Amino acid sequence: MKPTGRVLSGMRPTGALHLGHFHGVLSNWLKLQNEYDCFFFVADWHALTTDYANPAAIKDNIREMVIDWLSVGIDPAKAVIFRQSVIKEHAELHVLLSMITPLSWLERNPTYKEQMEALVEKDVRTFGFLGYPVLQTADIIIYKASLVPVGVDQAPHLELSREITRRFNHLYGNTFPEPQTLLTTSPKVLGTDGRKMSKSYGNAILLSDAPEDVEKKMLQMMTDTARKRRTDAGNPDVCPFYETFHALYSDETTVEWVREGCAKASIGCTECKRSVIPKVLAFLEPVQKRRAELEKDPTAIEAILRDGARSAHEAASKTMHDARKAMGLE
Ligand code: TRP
Ligand code: SF4
Repeated sequence: MKPTGRVLSGMRPTGALHLGHFHGVLSNWLKLQNEYDCFFFVADWHALTTDYANPAAIKDNIREMVIDWLSVGIDPAKAVIFRQSVIKEHAELHVLLSMITPLSWLERNPTYKEQMEALVEKDVRTFGFLGYPVLQTADIIIYKASLVPVGVDQAPHLELSREITRRFNHLYGNTFPEPQTLLTTSPKVLGTDGRKMSKSYGNAILLSDAPEDVEKKMLQMMTDTARKRRTDAGNPDVCPFYETFHALYSDETTVEWVREGCAKASIGCTECKRSVIPKVLAFLEPVQKRRAELEKDPTAIEAILRDGARSAHEAASKTMHDARKAMGLE
Protein backbone atom coordinates (compact mmCIF):
# COMPACT_ATOMS: atom_id res chain seq x y z
CA MET A 1 0.00 0.00 0.00
CA LYS A 2 1.23 3.44 -0.88
CA PRO A 3 1.08 5.96 2.00
CA THR A 4 -1.61 8.59 1.77
CA GLY A 5 -0.68 11.93 0.36
CA ARG A 6 -0.81 12.78 -3.27
CA VAL A 7 2.28 13.97 -5.08
CA LEU A 8 2.01 16.32 -8.03
CA SER A 9 4.67 17.86 -10.19
CA GLY A 10 5.00 19.29 -13.66
CA MET A 11 7.56 20.38 -16.19
CA ARG A 12 7.35 22.87 -18.99
CA PRO A 13 7.90 21.28 -22.40
CA THR A 14 10.98 23.20 -23.44
CA GLY A 15 12.70 20.47 -25.45
CA ALA A 16 14.81 17.37 -25.07
CA LEU A 17 15.80 16.61 -21.50
CA HIS A 18 19.40 16.24 -20.36
CA LEU A 19 21.40 14.65 -17.54
CA GLY A 20 20.69 17.67 -15.34
CA HIS A 21 16.96 16.96 -15.57
CA PHE A 22 17.56 13.33 -14.80
CA HIS A 23 19.66 13.81 -11.68
CA GLY A 24 17.76 16.92 -10.57
CA VAL A 25 14.14 15.91 -11.10
CA LEU A 26 13.41 12.60 -12.74
CA SER A 27 15.44 10.41 -10.38
CA ASN A 28 13.32 11.85 -7.61
CA TRP A 29 10.08 11.20 -9.49
CA LEU A 30 11.20 7.60 -10.01
CA LYS A 31 11.45 7.11 -6.26
CA LEU A 32 8.20 8.91 -5.53
CA GLN A 33 6.14 6.92 -8.02
CA ASN A 34 6.89 3.80 -5.98
CA GLU A 35 5.94 5.44 -2.71
CA TYR A 36 2.99 7.74 -3.40
CA ASP A 37 -0.03 8.32 -5.52
CA CYS A 38 1.64 10.51 -8.19
CA PHE A 39 0.48 12.93 -10.86
CA PHE A 40 3.10 14.13 -13.34
CA PHE A 41 2.06 16.55 -16.02
CA VAL A 42 3.27 18.55 -18.98
CA ALA A 43 2.80 22.24 -18.22
CA ASP A 44 2.12 23.35 -21.79
CA TRP A 45 0.11 26.44 -20.80
CA HIS A 46 3.04 27.50 -18.65
CA ALA A 47 5.31 27.14 -21.67
CA LEU A 48 3.11 29.66 -23.45
CA THR A 49 3.72 32.29 -20.77
CA THR A 50 7.19 32.82 -22.22
CA ASP A 51 6.90 31.28 -25.71
CA TYR A 52 3.55 32.65 -26.81
CA ALA A 53 5.16 34.32 -29.82
CA ASN A 54 6.64 31.07 -31.11
CA PRO A 55 4.38 28.23 -30.06
CA ALA A 56 5.20 25.97 -33.03
CA ALA A 57 7.74 23.83 -31.18
CA ILE A 58 5.58 23.12 -28.15
CA LYS A 59 3.75 20.19 -29.69
CA ASP A 60 6.91 18.29 -30.59
CA ASN A 61 8.49 19.23 -27.29
CA ILE A 62 5.60 17.65 -25.42
CA ARG A 63 6.04 14.37 -27.22
CA GLU A 64 9.82 14.39 -26.81
CA MET A 65 9.57 15.20 -23.14
CA VAL A 66 7.06 12.45 -22.39
CA ILE A 67 9.28 10.00 -24.28
CA ASP A 68 12.18 11.14 -22.11
CA TRP A 69 10.11 10.59 -18.96
CA LEU A 70 9.05 7.10 -19.99
CA SER A 71 12.47 6.11 -21.24
CA VAL A 72 14.04 6.71 -17.83
CA GLY A 73 11.32 4.66 -16.18
CA ILE A 74 8.45 6.96 -15.29
CA ASP A 75 5.69 4.42 -15.44
CA PRO A 76 2.08 5.09 -16.47
CA ALA A 77 1.07 2.07 -14.40
CA LYS A 78 2.38 3.83 -11.29
CA ALA A 79 1.77 7.52 -12.02
CA VAL A 80 -0.88 9.53 -13.81
CA ILE A 81 0.83 11.21 -16.76
CA PHE A 82 -1.06 13.94 -18.58
CA ARG A 83 -1.04 17.25 -20.35
CA GLN A 84 -2.23 20.37 -18.55
CA SER A 85 -4.09 22.03 -21.44
CA VAL A 86 -6.35 19.00 -21.90
CA ILE A 87 -7.81 19.42 -18.42
CA LYS A 88 -9.81 22.62 -18.86
CA GLU A 89 -10.67 22.72 -15.18
CA HIS A 90 -7.18 24.06 -14.45
CA ALA A 91 -8.18 27.19 -16.38
CA GLU A 92 -11.48 27.48 -14.55
CA LEU A 93 -9.81 27.23 -11.18
CA HIS A 94 -7.19 29.72 -12.33
CA VAL A 95 -9.98 32.24 -12.99
CA LEU A 96 -11.50 31.67 -9.56
CA LEU A 97 -8.14 31.98 -7.82
CA SER A 98 -7.31 35.12 -9.79
CA MET A 99 -10.25 36.84 -8.07
CA ILE A 100 -8.72 36.41 -4.65
CA THR A 101 -5.02 36.83 -5.40
CA PRO A 102 -3.75 40.31 -4.52
CA LEU A 103 -1.61 41.84 -7.26
CA SER A 104 1.00 42.79 -4.68
CA TRP A 105 1.66 39.10 -3.91
CA LEU A 106 2.44 38.44 -7.56
CA GLU A 107 4.50 41.56 -8.09
CA ARG A 108 6.77 40.92 -5.16
CA ASN A 109 7.46 37.30 -6.15
CA PRO A 110 11.27 37.12 -6.48
CA THR A 111 11.15 34.57 -9.31
CA TYR A 112 8.92 36.94 -11.26
CA LYS A 113 11.32 39.82 -10.83
CA GLU A 114 14.36 37.74 -11.73
CA GLN A 115 12.78 36.24 -14.81
CA MET A 116 11.54 39.61 -15.94
CA GLU A 117 15.13 40.81 -15.97
CA ALA A 118 16.61 37.60 -17.35
CA LEU A 119 14.27 37.16 -20.30
CA VAL A 120 15.34 40.30 -22.11
CA GLU A 121 14.76 38.91 -25.58
CA LYS A 122 11.09 38.13 -24.81
CA ASP A 123 8.41 40.55 -23.77
CA VAL A 124 6.96 38.92 -20.69
CA ARG A 125 5.11 41.95 -19.41
CA THR A 126 1.86 40.06 -19.83
CA PHE A 127 -1.09 39.20 -17.66
CA GLY A 128 -0.38 35.50 -18.21
CA PHE A 129 3.21 35.72 -17.06
CA LEU A 130 2.32 37.67 -13.94
CA GLY A 131 -0.30 35.04 -13.19
CA TYR A 132 2.10 32.11 -13.66
CA PRO A 133 1.99 31.17 -9.95
CA VAL A 134 -1.81 31.40 -9.89
CA LEU A 135 -2.04 28.84 -12.66
CA GLN A 136 0.56 26.75 -10.88
CA THR A 137 -1.56 26.87 -7.73
CA ALA A 138 -4.58 25.69 -9.69
CA ASP A 139 -2.49 22.81 -11.10
CA ILE A 140 -1.65 21.67 -7.62
CA ILE A 141 -4.76 22.13 -5.56
CA ILE A 142 -7.16 20.88 -8.22
CA TYR A 143 -5.76 17.42 -7.40
CA LYS A 144 -5.74 18.16 -3.68
CA ALA A 145 -2.05 17.34 -3.82
CA SER A 146 -0.30 17.55 -0.51
CA LEU A 147 3.30 17.13 -1.68
CA VAL A 148 4.93 19.03 -4.50
CA PRO A 149 8.50 17.99 -5.35
CA VAL A 150 10.35 20.94 -6.86
CA GLY A 151 13.81 22.41 -6.96
CA VAL A 152 14.76 25.35 -4.81
CA ASP A 153 14.17 27.80 -7.70
CA GLN A 154 10.46 26.96 -7.51
CA ALA A 155 10.16 27.44 -3.76
CA PRO A 156 8.86 31.05 -3.94
CA HIS A 157 6.09 29.90 -6.29
CA LEU A 158 5.11 27.19 -3.86
CA GLU A 159 5.05 29.66 -1.01
CA LEU A 160 2.61 31.76 -3.02
CA SER A 161 0.51 28.67 -3.72
CA ARG A 162 0.26 28.07 -0.02
CA GLU A 163 -0.81 31.65 0.62
CA ILE A 164 -3.44 31.57 -2.10
CA THR A 165 -4.76 28.27 -0.77
CA ARG A 166 -5.00 29.65 2.77
CA ARG A 167 -6.83 32.69 1.49
CA PHE A 168 -9.35 30.55 -0.37
CA ASN A 169 -9.96 28.37 2.67
CA HIS A 170 -10.27 31.42 4.89
CA LEU A 171 -12.79 33.14 2.62
CA TYR A 172 -14.94 30.18 1.61
CA GLY A 173 -14.32 27.44 4.14
CA ASN A 174 -11.80 24.65 4.17
CA THR A 175 -11.75 23.28 0.63
CA PHE A 176 -8.15 22.50 -0.28
CA PRO A 177 -5.27 20.95 1.64
CA GLU A 178 -2.33 23.32 1.87
CA PRO A 179 0.39 21.89 -0.38
CA GLN A 180 3.79 21.16 1.11
CA THR A 181 7.00 21.75 -0.79
CA LEU A 182 9.06 18.62 -1.07
CA LEU A 183 12.39 20.25 -1.69
CA THR A 184 14.45 18.15 -4.06
CA THR A 185 18.10 18.27 -3.15
CA SER A 186 19.75 17.76 -6.46
CA PRO A 187 23.42 17.20 -7.14
CA LYS A 188 25.14 19.89 -9.10
CA VAL A 189 25.16 18.84 -12.72
CA LEU A 190 27.53 20.97 -14.76
CA GLY A 191 27.64 21.24 -18.52
CA THR A 192 30.57 21.03 -20.90
CA ASP A 193 31.52 24.68 -20.31
CA GLY A 194 31.55 24.31 -16.52
CA ARG A 195 28.33 26.25 -15.98
CA LYS A 196 25.11 24.67 -14.73
CA MET A 197 23.86 22.19 -17.34
CA SER A 198 21.13 23.95 -19.23
CA LYS A 199 19.66 23.71 -22.67
CA SER A 200 19.87 27.47 -23.14
CA TYR A 201 23.64 27.43 -22.55
CA GLY A 202 24.15 24.78 -25.22
CA ASN A 203 26.33 22.81 -22.79
CA ALA A 204 24.05 19.86 -22.10
CA ILE A 205 24.35 16.13 -22.60
CA LEU A 206 20.93 14.99 -23.71
CA LEU A 207 19.31 11.75 -22.64
CA SER A 208 18.83 11.15 -26.37
CA ASP A 209 22.39 11.99 -27.48
CA ALA A 210 24.08 9.27 -29.53
CA PRO A 211 26.93 7.50 -27.66
CA GLU A 212 29.58 9.07 -29.90
CA ASP A 213 28.21 12.53 -29.14
CA VAL A 214 28.16 11.83 -25.43
CA GLU A 215 31.77 10.71 -25.63
CA LYS A 216 32.78 13.74 -27.68
CA LYS A 217 31.05 16.18 -25.33
CA MET A 218 32.60 14.57 -22.27
CA LEU A 219 36.07 14.64 -23.82
CA GLN A 220 35.62 18.31 -24.66
CA MET A 221 34.30 19.25 -21.25
CA MET A 222 36.10 21.82 -19.18
CA THR A 223 38.45 20.59 -16.46
CA ASP A 224 40.58 22.32 -13.83
CA THR A 225 41.61 25.37 -15.87
CA ALA A 226 44.88 25.66 -13.95
CA ARG A 227 45.94 22.28 -15.31
CA LYS A 228 47.24 23.49 -18.65
CA ARG A 229 49.77 20.79 -19.46
CA ARG A 230 49.76 17.07 -18.91
CA THR A 231 52.63 17.51 -16.43
CA ASP A 232 50.75 20.11 -14.33
CA ALA A 233 49.15 18.79 -11.17
CA GLY A 234 45.38 19.32 -11.01
CA ASN A 235 42.78 19.75 -8.34
CA PRO A 236 39.63 17.63 -8.69
CA ASP A 237 37.79 19.89 -6.26
CA VAL A 238 37.77 22.72 -8.78
CA CYS A 239 37.28 20.50 -11.82
CA PRO A 240 33.74 20.67 -13.27
CA PHE A 241 34.18 17.33 -15.00
CA TYR A 242 35.10 15.64 -11.74
CA GLU A 243 32.36 17.42 -9.82
CA THR A 244 29.71 16.13 -12.18
CA PHE A 245 30.82 12.85 -13.69
CA HIS A 246 33.08 11.23 -11.14
CA ALA A 247 30.84 12.34 -8.32
CA LEU A 248 27.75 10.85 -9.95
CA TYR A 249 29.00 7.82 -11.83
CA SER A 250 32.33 6.58 -10.47
CA ASP A 251 32.86 4.00 -7.76
CA GLU A 252 35.09 4.70 -4.78
CA THR A 253 38.15 2.99 -6.21
CA THR A 254 38.00 5.07 -9.37
CA VAL A 255 37.44 8.24 -7.38
CA GLU A 256 40.55 7.51 -5.31
CA TRP A 257 42.57 6.74 -8.42
CA VAL A 258 41.42 10.00 -10.01
CA ARG A 259 42.09 12.15 -6.95
CA GLU A 260 45.57 10.82 -6.52
CA GLY A 261 46.42 10.70 -10.20
CA CYS A 262 45.19 14.22 -10.79
CA ALA A 263 47.00 15.70 -7.81
CA LYS A 264 50.26 13.98 -8.77
CA ALA A 265 49.86 14.47 -12.50
CA SER A 266 50.27 10.74 -12.95
CA ILE A 267 47.13 10.59 -15.12
CA GLY A 268 46.03 12.90 -17.90
CA CYS A 269 42.58 14.43 -18.25
CA THR A 270 41.72 12.24 -21.23
CA GLU A 271 42.61 9.08 -19.34
CA CYS A 272 40.67 10.37 -16.36
CA LYS A 273 37.61 11.05 -18.51
CA ARG A 274 37.82 7.73 -20.30
CA SER A 275 37.53 5.96 -16.98
CA VAL A 276 33.97 7.22 -16.49
CA ILE A 277 32.62 7.57 -20.04
CA PRO A 278 31.58 3.87 -20.18
CA LYS A 279 29.55 4.32 -16.98
CA VAL A 280 27.56 7.16 -18.48
CA LEU A 281 27.04 5.23 -21.70
CA ALA A 282 25.90 2.20 -19.72
CA PHE A 283 23.35 4.35 -17.93
CA LEU A 284 22.07 5.79 -21.20
CA GLU A 285 21.95 2.53 -23.13
CA PRO A 286 18.72 1.08 -21.70
CA VAL A 287 17.19 4.56 -21.65
CA GLN A 288 17.80 4.92 -25.37
CA LYS A 289 16.61 1.40 -26.06
CA ARG A 290 13.27 2.23 -24.45
CA ARG A 291 13.19 5.50 -26.38
CA ALA A 292 13.67 3.62 -29.67
CA GLU A 293 10.81 1.26 -28.81
CA LEU A 294 8.50 4.15 -27.95
CA GLU A 295 9.40 5.94 -31.16
CA LYS A 296 8.52 2.83 -33.15
CA ASP A 297 4.93 3.06 -31.98
CA PRO A 298 3.58 6.49 -32.94
CA THR A 299 0.35 6.04 -30.99
CA ALA A 300 1.91 4.89 -27.69
CA ILE A 301 2.48 8.36 -26.28
CA GLU A 302 -0.97 9.61 -27.26
CA ALA A 303 -2.55 6.56 -25.65
CA ILE A 304 -0.65 7.11 -22.40
CA LEU A 305 -1.61 10.78 -22.32
CA ARG A 306 -5.21 9.91 -23.09
CA ASP A 307 -5.42 7.41 -20.24
CA GLY A 308 -3.70 9.86 -17.90
CA ALA A 309 -6.12 12.60 -18.90
CA ARG A 310 -9.06 10.37 -18.03
CA SER A 311 -7.83 9.86 -14.46
CA ALA A 312 -6.75 13.47 -14.09
CA HIS A 313 -10.07 14.75 -15.38
CA GLU A 314 -12.00 12.59 -12.97
CA ALA A 315 -10.09 14.00 -10.00
CA ALA A 316 -10.12 17.60 -11.27
CA SER A 317 -13.83 17.73 -12.03
CA LYS A 318 -14.64 16.38 -8.59
CA THR A 319 -12.61 19.14 -6.95
CA MET A 320 -14.23 21.78 -9.13
CA HIS A 321 -17.64 20.90 -7.71
CA ASP A 322 -16.24 21.64 -4.25
CA ALA A 323 -14.62 24.87 -5.40
CA ARG A 324 -17.73 26.15 -7.18
CA LYS A 325 -19.92 25.25 -4.23
CA ALA A 326 -17.55 27.02 -1.85
CA MET A 327 -17.74 30.20 -3.96
CA GLY A 328 -21.51 30.03 -4.33
CA LEU A 329 -21.49 29.12 -8.00
CA GLU A 330 -23.11 25.74 -7.70
N1 TRP B 1 6.81 26.00 -12.86
C1 TRP B 1 7.27 24.65 -13.00
C2 TRP B 1 8.63 24.66 -13.73
O1 TRP B 1 8.94 25.57 -14.43
C3 TRP B 1 6.30 23.81 -13.78
C4 TRP B 1 4.99 23.69 -13.07
C5 TRP B 1 3.80 24.17 -13.48
C6 TRP B 1 4.75 23.00 -11.84
N2 TRP B 1 2.81 23.84 -12.62
C7 TRP B 1 3.36 23.13 -11.59
C8 TRP B 1 5.57 22.31 -10.95
C9 TRP B 1 2.78 22.58 -10.45
C10 TRP B 1 4.98 21.77 -9.80
C11 TRP B 1 3.59 21.91 -9.56
O2 TRP B 1 9.37 23.70 -13.62
FE1 SF4 C 1 39.61 16.97 -13.82
FE2 SF4 C 1 40.35 14.45 -14.11
FE3 SF4 C 1 41.66 16.38 -15.40
FE4 SF4 C 1 41.91 16.15 -12.78
S1 SF4 C 1 42.56 14.65 -14.30
S2 SF4 C 1 41.56 18.05 -13.91
S3 SF4 C 1 39.87 15.46 -12.18
S4 SF4 C 1 39.54 15.76 -15.70
